[in-house]
Amino acid sequence: MFTPRSINLLDFVVSIASAVDHIDSRIANHHKRVAYIANQIAREMGASQKTQYDLVIAGLLHDIGVLSIHERDRLLAYDDAADTNQHCEAGYLLLNKFRNFSGVSTIIRYHHTEYADSDRLGHVAPMESNLLFLADRIDVLIDKNQPILEQVDRIVATIARGSGSKFDPDQVDAFSELAWKERFWLDVVSPTLEQVLVANCRNYSVELENDDLLDFAELLAHIIDFRCRFTATHSSGVATVASVLANLIGFSETECQKIKVAGYLHDIGKLAIPAEILEKNGNLTSSEFRTIKSHAYYTYRILEPLQGMEEIRNWAAMHHERLDGNGYPGRCTALTIPLGARIIAAADVFTALLETRPYRFALHKDAVREKLVELTQRNILDRKVVDTLLANFDTIDAYRMQAQEEAQREYLQFRNSIDGTGSAKPQAAQPYPFVAVPALSS
Ligand SMILES: [Fe+2]
Ligand SMILES: [Fe+2]
Ligand SMILES: [Fe+2]
Repeated sequence: MFTPRSINLLDFVVSIASAVDHIDSRIANHHKRVAYIANQIAREMGASQKTQYDLVIAGLLHDIGVLSIHERDRLLAYDDAADTNQHCEAGYLLLNKFRNFSGVSTIIRYHHTEYADSDRLGHVAPMESNLLFLADRIDVLIDKNQPILEQVDRIVATIARGSGSKFDPDQVDAFSELAWKERFWLDVVSPTLEQVLVANCRNYSVELENDDLLDFAELLAHIIDFRCRFTATHSSGVATVASVLANLIGFSETECQKIKVAGYLHDIGKLAIPAEILEKNGNLTSSEFRTIKSHAYYTYRILEPLQGMEEIRNWAAMHHERLDGNGYPGRCTALTIPLGARIIAAADVFTALLETRPYRFALHKDAVREKLVELTQRNILDRKVVDTLLANFDTIDAYRMQAQEEAQREYLQFRNSIDGTGSAKPQAAQPYPFVAVPALSS
């Protein structure tokens, strides 16, 4: 047993959705609204509690595979969202390895397949996928700057025109019934929507313990890292280095597993940062650099609501703090930075220096050793932690390489699978020009 308390999966997913919706003000709360709308239509149709719950999780994560602003732009247009399959396939591939998400990932895979196209395309989209598509399109039709109750007739009429072609007629009928209720619409735009959503599904939420939490954290590491080809294996490397280092320092087996979770999640705040900035091909502006730095703050905020994750959260979210007090986002000092965070910080720098980045090639081992010593002399990294790292350099590096090679195989499989889907193809990989080094690590 390594978690003193289990972690609620629904709470975790809600928190991730909040971060993703922070990327672009145009999609503020989009994932939560779609989850709620899909859930309510399913209830109206008498769907099982399990289906209602799956739709909430799928709604909260449905656009997690959006990798470009071009694709996001198209998804915001009501009639331009067909042929946007890349993010559906990406979402499916990112989520389907987690056993709790096997049903949810299939719902997401077909969530832009129109009702009439299900057969023509050679597969039958699950009813839940059609419903998620309907909920997504309803939300896109809402003008966020106008009073919601003034818009009901227009939205219902527009959706009705798609009945039998875009949408399942039974689902459109259920939506039309639901649309009579002011409560439904007021919930959709309510600032307390999150509480309503969670209260509706609390009884069906899964608790994550031990290996499930580790698997979920690894899945999240791929979602975080695969958005940028230069950091595609970074969190896997940090998690492995941190856990090996913690073991050498004398952490218990339980603590080593917790620090591995913290390593997987240390950059989870990057989900709130647009991929265009993470992957920018050229110099970062000072504003973009500040935006990237804010990821450590969002790591804290994403993990903050999760009961039982307090220690993991602190270890993960303080990885850019420095012992001399000049780190971020809290300007913490040696007085308040716990040993777990010092281990993650050293693992982060070590792993980053051995990776090729847009602004430099991977450093040679001797240069990494010198850099680590320099960072302890400048009172940035913990001396005891770095001494342990240097004394076991080759062993730890072998573990790092093994973990990152495995993650690289998964990343290439992922890219190969999505590059042929949809119209929003990624840019061909090109070498970046070298630019000023913006930070010590990721
Ligand atoms: Fe979508
Ligand atoms: Fe969407
Ligand atoms: Fe970071």
